[in-house]
Amino acid sequence: MTSIQTMAPPFEPYRVKMIEPIRMTTREQRARILEEAGYNLFSVEADNVLIDLLTDSGTAAMSARQWGALMQADESYAGGTSFRRFRAAVQGITGFEHVIPAHQGRAAERILFSVMCKPGDVVPGNTHFDTTRANIEKLGAKAVDLLCRESRQISVPHPFKGNIDVDALHALLKSLGPERVPLVMITVTNNSAGDQPVSMSNLRAVRELLAEWGIPLFLDACRFAQNAYFIQQREPGYQTRTAREIAQEMFSLADGCTMSAKKDGLSNMGGFIALRNEDLARRMTDLLILTEGFPTYGGLAGRDLETVAIGLEEALDESYLSYHADLTKWLGESLTSAGVPIVQPPGGYAVYIDASTFMRHLPATAHRGHALVAELYLEAGIRTSTIQFPRTEGLAGTADDIELVRLALPSRVYTASHIRYVIDAVIKVYQNRAAIGGLRETYTPQLLRNFTARFAREATPAEEAQPAPVDPRDAAGRVSVA
Ligand code: F0G
Repeated sequence: MTSIQTMAPPFEPYRVKMIEPIRMTTREQRARILEEAGYNLFSVEADNVLIDLLTDSGTAAMSARQWGALMQADESYAGGTSFRRFRAAVQGITGFEHVIPAHQGRAAERILFSVMCKPGDVVPGNTHFDTTRANIEKLGAKAVDLLCRESRQISVPHPFKGNIDVDALHALLKSLGPERVPLVMITVTNNSAGDQPVSMSNLRAVRELLAEWGIPLFLDACRFAQNAYFIQQREPGYQTRTAREIAQEMFSLADGCTMSAKKDGLSNMGGFIALRNEDLARRMTDLLILTEGFPTYGGLAGRDLETVAIGLEEALDESYLSYHADLTKWLGESLTSAGVPIVQPPGGYAVYIDASTFMRHLPATAHRGHALVAELYLEAGIRTSTIQFPRTEGLAGTADDIELVRLALPSRVYTASHIRYVIDAVIKVYQNRAAIGGLRETYTPQLLRNFTARFAREATPAEEAQPAPVDPRDAAGRVSVA
């Protein structure tokens, strides 16, 4: 296989201290594994995966500093010193006084929305992540995505395709009035819309609009450091500012945030809510104790608090940030130059293949995204996942049925040679795409469908072109021998 490249692979700004073997399987083994897993890669055992691009969440490699701090953590039930270090790290970056630890992002979301939302409320955002939407809607409120127009043209690059449509937000506020909008939530970077960044000017415009209405702004800050890096690289006026300063400015425009530290906390577990308002913080803390634990650990071990405190700082290290973004860019540009359709430009940690275009030889009913995910595993032992491109309220006739396949790069885990292997494999699958068959859904779960749905293989186009095998038996079941 030959790879077509447009830029040189980036140079890892670290060396390896601890290794974990990975294992190749045979194509026959993978065909059987896929069938047993109902063609859903979430049901495949991780040791049967060669390169795991399922998610960047909780899959980062920790640094020597993080492992060292983990051993020295304070596991006291109350008032642990590890919590103080965690809180200081969060306060230093966000400027928010109140810091409420939680075991991961969705736990933080549940607590935030339980305190702030009531049935009938509406929470607008650029694009709510699945768990965010589910936590809002569980309370009888509505999550509304108001993604900017540039984002709808997925193959056309734009520096800030994660932005919210400020005019649409304004129109929505006018139609609803402030009573029904307890907060607006902006996700940085905008994961569900192709991991695209949000500009500082967009955040500022939202801030100014919401100030008129007295509505608080919260950030879903999972990938805040990557967003800050893109602002530094792409937004006029920020080139001489550090990623840390830019992150601080982003948070200064908001009233609070939720965070999954499994992303830009470079930790295997962790999350938090941070905010300015003391009364809200007190009510959230009461709820925290009910399910997450005492306010100085919130569902986390002291060692998790330590690794997050350090991970948040390391995520703002610009040699790390530029490497991670360049690795993603190299993957994206190499695929683009071979004609593979992707969301443009590549994001901070992931490349999103437009599976609907890649697999246009099949109808949408053939589960093109899942079929492509299965094929990448069958061909090369690579595990990826599907994402439905977000629907936007009130934008009729837009790309509502685009299925994406996400190649998510866990932080500091794979080297350029691993990614070169991925590039070659995806290009090979692309070149042979006409031979890929579709899938038929055999089990549809009620909730969060992607995780547990099951599929069966449909005939491939080549199999369909074959005449049906002739049954050699006659009506009485006898086989005549010529
Ligand atoms: N918000 C965003 C933008 C996310 O991407 C995620 C998780 C969450 C919230 C929830 O955080 O997993 O710690 O509870 N995203 C993962 C992913 C699962 O694969 O994109 P969590």
